[in-house]
Amino acid sequence: MKLFIPGPVDVRADVLQVMSKQMMSHRSEDISILQNSITSKLKRVMGTSNDIVISSSSGTGSMEMALKSLTLKKALVISNGAFGDRFFEIAKFNQIDADYHRFEDGKAIDPDILESLLKTHQYDTLTITHNETSTGVMNDLNELDVVLKKFPDVLVILDTVSSLGGTSIQIDQYHIDVCVSASQKALGLPPGLSFISLSKEAIKRLEDVPSRGYYLNLKRVYDLAQKKNQYPSTPTISIMYALDYQLDYIIEKEGLINRYQRHLELAKFTRAWAKKHFDLLVEEGYQSNTLTTVINCHNYNMTYLKDELKKSGYIFSEGYGKLKSHTFRIAHMGDRTLDELKEYLKRIEEIWQLS
Ligand SMILES: Cc1ncc(COP(=O)(O)O)c(C=O)c1O
Repeated sequence: MKLFIPGPVDVRADVLQVMSKQMMSHRSEDISILQNSITSKLKRVMGTSNDIVISSSSGTGSMEMALKSLTLKKALVISNGAFGDRFFEIAKFNQIDADYHRFEDGKAIDPDILESLLKTHQYDTLTITHNETSTGVMNDLNELDVVLKKFPDVLVILDTVSSLGGTSIQIDQYHIDVCVSASQKALGLPPGLSFISLSKEAIKRLEDVPSRGYYLNLKRVYDLAQKKNQYPSTPTISIMYALDYQLDYIIEKEGLINRYQRHLELAKFTRAWAKKHFDLLVEEGYQSNTLTTVINCHNYNMTYLKDELKKSGYIFSEGYGKLKSHTFRIAHMGDRTLDELKEYLKRIEEIWQLS
C-alpha cells in the first residue's frame, strides 16, 4: 500500500531496517551520543542555533508541553484550521488562560489582524501553525515576522509538524522562540518522536512558569538534556536510530536544497493537475509544499474513488473535518517521488474517467 495521506507517510525500507537494531540503555553514554547527534542535525534542518529537545510523544505531546510550560500570563492562539484549533483545546484542557482567533478554512493568517490582536498587550505566548495540514495552507513566515518582531516580549510557538523537512524553515531568521515538529511527515519516519527548539528567552521563561505537569514538563526534559543529553523517561529508541540515520540521508545524501526542490516540484505538479481537472482550496502564495487540497467541484463520488484506489494499493485522503464532503487532499511529502505521484494521479484520472 502507498500512503497518499498527509502523515504518517511511507518509510523507506533502509530506514525500517535501521529500526530493527537492538535496544541500548536509556541511561548509557551511547544514548547521550545518539541524542546529541540527533539534536545537532535537527538544528541544521530547523535553521537554528537554539537548543533542541526531543520528546517521546507525537507532535501533539510537544505542542502541549510547549504551551503549558511556557505560558505565564495568557496565550493567543491564532488558527486557520484544525491543527491551529488544537492549541486552543490544549489551553482549555490545561486551564491555561487563552484567547483564540480563527481564520476561515483555506485562508492564510492575516498579518494586520495578528498585529491588532498583539497590540492589546495581553499575551506572553502566541501559537501559529506554519503548515495547516487540514486545509493545505502554508502561512508565510516572512510576512508574519514583520509583525512578530514588533512584539519581542511575546514568546512565539510555531508548529512545523507537517512542513519540517519538506520546505526550508530558517528559525533564526525570525522572531520565533519555539519550533515544534514531529517525525512522521515530511521527515519520512514513523510516528512517535517529536522535537522542540527553544530560544534563550524561552529557556528563561521555563524558570518562571509554576505548574507544568510531570511527563509533559519541558523544564524536566530540558534540564536532563542539558545535563546528560538524555530524556527523563525511556524514549522511543528505535525511532531515534531511524531519525539519526534519516537526518544524514536528508542533509548529506539527498541534500537539504534538493529535498526542498523535490517537494516544490511535486507540489507544482499536483497544483497544475488539480487546476486542470478541479479547483484548489488555497489561493496562490499560500499553497503548501507538502500537501494540496483539491475542491471536488464536479461532485464525483469520493467513496467509490477511495475504494477503487485501495484495490490498486493506494490510501486516499478525504478533506478534513467540515471540508470532508467536498474536498480531498493529496500528500506529496517525505520521500515520495514524482513518478509515484504521477502514477497515483493517473489512477485517479482512470477511476473517475477524467479527460
Ligand atoms: C500541523 C500539525 N500539527 C500537529 C499535528 C499533530 O501531530 P501528531 O498527530 O503527531 O500528534 C499534526 C498531525 O497531523 C499536524 O499536521
